[in-house]
Amino acid sequence: FMKRRKKWSRYPPGPMSLPFVGTMPYIDFHNPHLSFNKLHKKFGNIFSLQNCWTNLVVLNGYKTVKEALVHKAEDFADRPYFPTYEHVGYGDKSEGIVVARYGHVWKEIRKFTLSTLRDFGMGKKSLEERVTEEAGFLCSAIKAEEGRPFDLRFLVNNAVCNMICSIIYGGRFDYGDEVFRKMVALFENSLSEEAGFLTQFLNVMPILLRIPGLPQKVFHGQKAYMDFIDVLIQKHMETWNPEYTRDFTDAFLKEMSKGKEAEENGFNYNNLRLVTADLFAAGSDTTSATLRWAFLYMLLHPETQSKIHKEIDMVIGRERSPTMMDQVNMPYTNAVIHEVQRCGDIAPVGLPHMTYRDTELQGYFIPKGTTVITNLSSVLKDESVWQKPNEFYPEHFLDVNGQFVKPEAFMPFSAGRRVCLGAQLARMELFIFFTTLLQQFTFMLPEDQPRPRTDGYFALIQCPHPFKLRAIPR
Ligand code: HEM
Repeated sequence: FMKRRKKWSRYPPGPMSLPFVGTMPYIDFHNPHLSFNKLHKKFGNIFSLQNCWTNLVVLNGYKTVKEALVHKAEDFADRPYFPTYEHVGYGDKSEGIVVARYGHVWKEIRKFTLSTLRDFGMGKKSLEERVTEEAGFLCSAIKAEEGRPFDLRFLVNNAVCNMICSIIYGGRFDYGDEVFRKMVALFENSLSEEAGFLTQFLNVMPILLRIPGLPQKVFHGQKAYMDFIDVLIQKHMETWNPEYTRDFTDAFLKEMSKGKEAEENGFNYNNLRLVTADLFAAGSDTTSATLRWAFLYMLLHPETQSKIHKEIDMVIGRERSPTMMDQVNMPYTNAVIHEVQRCGDIAPVGLPHMTYRDTELQGYFIPKGTTVITNLSSVLKDESVWQKPNEFYPEHFLDVNGQFVKPEAFMPFSAGRRVCLGAQLARMELFIFFTTLLQQFTFMLPEDQPRPRTDGYFALIQCPHPFKLRAIPR
């Protein structure tokens, strides 16, 4: 007992907890990272909160986040469990990847997904070829706007969703295709439902989920989206030939066919639909929001855009398509893309982690089962690392000779065991989409449009507010 008291006396400090609601009134749930930054100044790098009955610890600044995620990787590798997941099919041996508890099944599925993405020699085309091909379709759709003001969001969303479709279902869809449009709409609905206040509230008050009819009403969008995924998988299964792996779904079906042990390792039908939904959820809005930040910064910093145009003309020219090999010869463009990710800060509070065992961090005791928030925003804007943390300044990633350098605090994909699984694909999409579009167009702010806002809005990820631009062919 004395030992426990001593440990808990070293629990991180935090604002005073109120009856029933805990510390929730101190947090602006539309801008959690801004509230965290204020509390960071008051309580230091590690502070505690309480969401009703749930204990949370928030980690701030590069040193602290790195120590937890990298040096004590396993201690911080678990994910908290949210009761609302059950209503979209989360169950034993089928937890997808993103919110799966740390353990054997998650390890197997993550390893399989990473290696399937890595040797995407499957099918006929490499992943890079698919990104390049999609960039071509994106350019044609932008050209069709003929220099008129338009919101790039829909086209960019289509392009990145198509990349996930290509990986999972082996092919892309035309942007006008009915099935594709339905899928993107269902997907967006389900994401906004997940980010909504009601879902968050039900996670802290799960007892309300027992009210008859309520879950069906609240998760209507997510269920519709999962039903749609079922149809696509069913169609796929009808044409499946075990001799030939066309895509991720085929590779997963092949694992499933290996019997009981594989099923125990998470290769079962229910998990296939959850992993598929996870890849869409984690892989499309994130990349699309980053690209939209990139074009917004180009509108606001025309001198940066001109320098990129010059570098493209010098290294690639106007005719051939950019490839990943060009990246090493394009330090400025590379620095700009990194600065877009740093400044855009699209995952300001990352994804919640949970302690896998009792642990200590910088002298504080954090018990097993505590929800841990990694304030990635405080790392990407850490004043002790970045020269101009709150400005768009590509020089953060250039040395005195103009060569590309990457400070260790560049952590938009997080770090450690749960580091973003799609980082390599995301980097490829960002470089090829961005460079191809700038090779073909000059992006301008339409005369009658207000200057776009540089603050974002937060709904699971931080997106730019809607803006219009003109794309003038070069
Ligand atoms: C997890 C960022 C694109 C798949 C994460 C996490 C972050 C992140 C911050 C949380 C890591 C943690 O828990 O500490 C980003 C950014 C992207 C991007 C900034 C684009 C610019 C992608 C893409 C895919 C993807 C394209 C898939 C093809 C995943 C998955 C996880 C994840 C599956 C969960 C990993 C796990 O829990 O084991 N990402 N991501 N992401 N990301 Fe990404």
